[in-house]
Amino acid sequence: MKWSLFLFTLILFSLSMTGCSQQEESCEAPAKKKIYNPNGDSELALLMRDMFDEGMRVKEAVESGKRPIPDWDADAMFTAHATQPEKVATPEFKAYAQAFLEAAKAMEDASPEAYRQSYQGMVKTCVACHQEVCPGPIVKINKMLLDESTGL
Ligand code: HEC
Repeated sequence: MKWSLFLFTLILFSLSMTGCSQQEESCEAPAKKKIYNPNGDSELALLMRDMFDEGMRVKEAVESGKRPIPDWDADAMFTAHATQPEKVATPEFKAYAQAFLEAAKAMEDASPEAYRQSYQGMVKTCVACHQEVCPGPIVKINKMLLDESTGL
C-alpha cells in the first residue's frame, strides 16, 4: 500500500519535470504538455501565457498609434511556481526578470516618439531571458515584435 503511494508520487514528480527540459515539446506545445502534465500547468507558465496574450493586445494598440499600459502582473514572475523550480532559482533568472520589468517601466514612461522603440526593446527582454532559460516559446514571442521596416 505505502509502496504504491510512493511509486505514484514518484511518477507524478517525474511528470511535473517536463517543463523546459524538452524545450520544443513542452514549452511550445501546450496541447501536448497537457498529456504529460496531468497536474495542470505551472503558475509561471499560466502567467507567461497571460503576458503573451496581453502583449499581443498591446502590440495591436501600438500599431494603431496608441500608447497602452500593459495590464499584467509581471512582478509575480519572482514568486510564481515554475515547472522546473531550479531554473528560476538562479541569479540569472532574477537578473533577466529585473531587466524585463525595467524595460516595461521604461515603455510606460516613454515619450510618444520613443514609444514604439521602447515597446520593441521590452519584447527583446522577453526573448533574452528565453534564450537563456527556455528557448521553446521564442518563435511565439517573436510574433509580438513590430515590423521594424515600417514606422520605426
Ligand atoms: C526572466 C525570465 C523570463 C522572462 C523575462 C519572460 N519569460 Fe516567458 N518563460 C520563462 C520561463 C522560465 C518559462 C517556463 C515556465 C514554466 O513552464 O513554468 C516561460 C514560459 C513562457 C511561455 C510558455 C508558457 C506555456 O504555455 O507553457 C510563453 C508563451 C512565454 N514564456 C512568453 C513570454 C513573454 C511574452 C514574455 C515577455 C512579455 C516573457 N515570456 C518573459 C521565463 C521568462
